[in-house]
Amino acid sequence: MAYYFCRFLNSKPPHKSSSLLRSLNHSVRSFSAPAMSPPATAIVYHQEGPPDSVTKMVELPPVEIKQNDVCVKMLAAPINPSDINRIQGVYPVKPQMPAVGGFEGVGEVHSIGSAVKGLSPGDLVIPCPPSFGTWQTYVVKEQSVWHKVDNRTPVGYAATVFVNPLTALKMLEDFVDLKQGDAIVQNGATSMVGQCIMQLARIRGIRSINIIRDRAGSDAAREKLKSLGADEVYTESQLEVKNVKSLLGHIPEPALGLNCVGGNAASLVIKFLRRGGTMVTYGGMSKKPITVSTSSFIFKELSLRGFYLQNFMTSSRAEECKSSIDYLLGLMREGKLTYDMEFAPLDDFHLALDKSLGKLGSQPKQVIKF
Ligand SMILES: NC(=O)c1ccc[n+]([C@@H]2O[C@H](COP(=O)([O-])OP(=O)(O)OC[C@H]3O[C@@H](n4cnc5c(N)ncnc54)[C@H](OP(=O)(O)O)[C@@H]3O)[C@@H](O)[C@H]2O)c1
Repeated sequence: MAYYFCRFLNSKPPHKSSSLLRSLNHSVRSFSAPAMSPPATAIVYHQEGPPDSVTKMVELPPVEIKQNDVCVKMLAAPINPSDINRIQGVYPVKPQMPAVGGFEGVGEVHSIGSAVKGLSPGDLVIPCPPSFGTWQTYVVKEQSVWHKVDNRTPVGYAATVFVNPLTALKMLEDFVDLKQGDAIVQNGATSMVGQCIMQLARIRGIRSINIIRDRAGSDAAREKLKSLGADEVYTESQLEVKNVKSLLGHIPEPALGLNCVGGNAASLVIKFLRRGGTMVTYGGMSKKPITVSTSSFIFKELSLRGFYLQNFMTSSRAEECKSSIDYLLGLMREGKLTYDMEFAPLDDFHLALDKSLGKLGSQPKQVIKF
């Protein structure tokens, strides 16, 4: 078992040393024994399947810290829908089994390999672009994986900046040339992506129409989103009207629609769009297909597009990606970009997972705190 995990972590099997050796400080280089990470507690799955039954908390042995490696003590990592989809086996990019869960997160440099420059113990770092295996207390990966983050960044925001806020930013920038005074419409507005979209739109002077699921307490959800910068917030049932555009008032017809739900919630986005508008689909939370009327295509000249963040994480866009992340982290530090999250200690992982799976109703984003 230990050998499996070492292979997964891209490191040699643990040195067959005594516990005395393992407890030595890793920065002591005069020893001939290789520097090793501390053992790690990790959320691991051996096969794809229902996340609540295939994930287990296990202890992983120390791994070698090679000369270009950085050993990071993880501080926080979110449970995102894509993490769940990966465990379920319904995501296109699959980790090797057995796998440690998680894809993004933040940690503090614990120790460094002998050839590492520019990072020191105590620095706050995120994997950028993200990579598999952030749900563990210690991660050892090459220096090139880690991006140093301003130590003043709140840990929860640093842990979650990549997957959702960056998706929100890229979708606002890459599809339609939006100008100040334009409008967008989105469903899934309570999601982390949705909360970022309405705030990033507001910063650019763009109005947002936001659609949420019907729920007990929808007034509170509406007020919350409005306090973040949403211009209008509607539940799906409030939009069961003959002409949704009659609700627009002084807001212009949106040029861009963003859909992470599908089914009826996607049809509502389409109904709001102006002629020549574009709907970008980036998620399918309802697991229902998108239905588009023939007349929408012909008479409204609608465009339907898709967005996948992985396509932005190519090496040719690495610098652009890092500067976008730094821009978002700056907004977070200034309090201009904020969203709901709930911290869960690692020991409560399975409760946090149940919340993320929707078993306990609508819940804020669950972020594991190590
Ligand atoms: N394509 C990409 O590259 C990319 C990148 C990042 C995220 N995403 C996608 O973006 C979406 C949002 O991610 P997130 O992390 O921001 O979400 P999140 O914060 O975890 O929130 C989940 C959202 O999904 C909604 N939801 C859950 N089950 C639903 C159902 N059965 N029907 C309708 N809505 C449902 C929730 O609504 P309630 O508040 O009503 O519970 C909430 O708005 C996900 O689909 C994710 O996969 C895609």
